[in-house]
Amino acid sequence: MSYSIFLKIFTIKVQSSERKLWFGVFYALIIITFEENMPVQIVLGAQWGDEGKGKIVDLLSENADIVARCQGGANAGHSIIIDGEKYILHLLPSGILHPHTQCFIGNGVVIDPEVLLEEIDFLESKGIQVKDRLFVSPQAHLVLPFHKILDRAFENNSPDVKIGTTGRGIGPAYCDKVGRVNLRLHHYYHRTEFEEKYRSRLREVCHRFPEIDALQALDHEQLLADALDKREQILPLLKDVSLELDRAIKAGATILIEGAQGTLLDIDFGTYPYVTSSNSISGGACTGLGIGPTKIDGVIGVLKAYTTRVGEGPFVTELTGELGDEMRELGKEYGATTGRPRRCGWFDAVIARYAVRVNGIDSFALTKLDILDSLPEINICVAYQYKNQILDDFPTDLNILTECQPIYETVRGWQASIAGITDFQKLPQGAKKYIQTIEKLCHTPVSIVSVGPERKDTIFNSRKP
Ligand code: IMP
Ligand code: MG
Repeated sequence: MSYSIFLKIFTIKVQSSERKLWFGVFYALIIITFEENMPVQIVLGAQWGDEGKGKIVDLLSENADIVARCQGGANAGHSIIIDGEKYILHLLPSGILHPHTQCFIGNGVVIDPEVLLEEIDFLESKGIQVKDRLFVSPQAHLVLPFHKILDRAFENNSPDVKIGTTGRGIGPAYCDKVGRVNLRLHHYYHRTEFEEKYRSRLREVCHRFPEIDALQALDHEQLLADALDKREQILPLLKDVSLELDRAIKAGATILIEGAQGTLLDIDFGTYPYVTSSNSISGGACTGLGIGPTKIDGVIGVLKAYTTRVGEGPFVTELTGELGDEMRELGKEYGATTGRPRRCGWFDAVIARYAVRVNGIDSFALTKLDILDSLPEINICVAYQYKNQILDDFPTDLNILTECQPIYETVRGWQASIAGITDFQKLPQGAKKYIQTIEKLCHTPVSIVSVGPERKDTIFNSRKP
């Protein structure tokens, strides 16, 4: 039985007066039934990232014993607003903001030691204790300063393809991982070996790219001293994440796996090459944490009520005119990591259906529905027109995708504020219709609707679609 269930029954009993005790026990039994069925859940982005996963993970973490990140790195930007204060986390799991959770960073994540230590210090300065409840896999790879230099240099010097990366060194670090030359966190265990490997990597990289000035300007001894200092601070955080998760699963713990980026940024299933360098689909949770697929009980896909993307690449429902600008301002669509304006467009059910397929999504969390409050009419892309064909399914060929035109179904806007509504039945008719249309087009229920940035602005929708 889950640790959190023990805690809940205890809390309910303590809080209950005698009259309320039976109700408390009944409530706890409902929670037990629900949680026992879904102890290990993945929450991931069903579009191009920035769907609002941070808030959803933060909410669900309330009932989780463990929150884990499995891929990506400090390219993520998860914004969470608590009591009016905004926290942006790039590397730590959003669940860290709940003091009862244990948080893991799995082998699939690439770790920038600088960001890791900065985020720990920032949270601890806010009174959030991190050190004894954050653990990092020794099998995770390091993002080193030269990876960040290479990332920016490749972007600036590339004659053909500009990806619009976050500049956080993600691509070069994953390249080194797959190329079998990178340093992993377990190299920290052996100081001399770590020093030798780091020196040799620095030499090799500088030798390979003589034309990159920033690389040539690096002071190797200074970098090494800095890396050794960070090593001291990070060593106590190392723990075999796969083993810990296995033990926790056997003990019945409730585990939330927090995806970063989104389905269409996945290295295999995204809009390649305009993607990130990890598997951000649900499969990445298994390879990025060292747990088997039979241990996953559910996948929640986070969908924004409209679509955004940062960086380059095709975007079928993009609105390039005034309406796109209006959406950006209404939704405050600026990158949490880079501050770049996000490209905005209508909701795309072709993408959402694809996300359901490649991730095995069994329910959606629909976010930022309130951003559409003022619009008189709202378009939903139901299929693509490619030359004289109608495509219901997301194409695998980027050349085809680039030429696709959206086929829209238009629904009437509700033109009323939905902020503060917490009951699905109290939503305006138009908003209900919008949600139901998405459910119908994707054959997937919307179980959570977010109508504002705060934890309280949320509808838990138990209604069957
Ligand atoms: P990289 O992950 O920094 O290599 O960037 C590759 C592409 O993924 C770029 O288009 C980025 O804008 C995008 N990207 C990476 N991380 C995120 C994210 O967390 N949210 C949205 N887009 C992202
Ligand atoms: Mg983000």
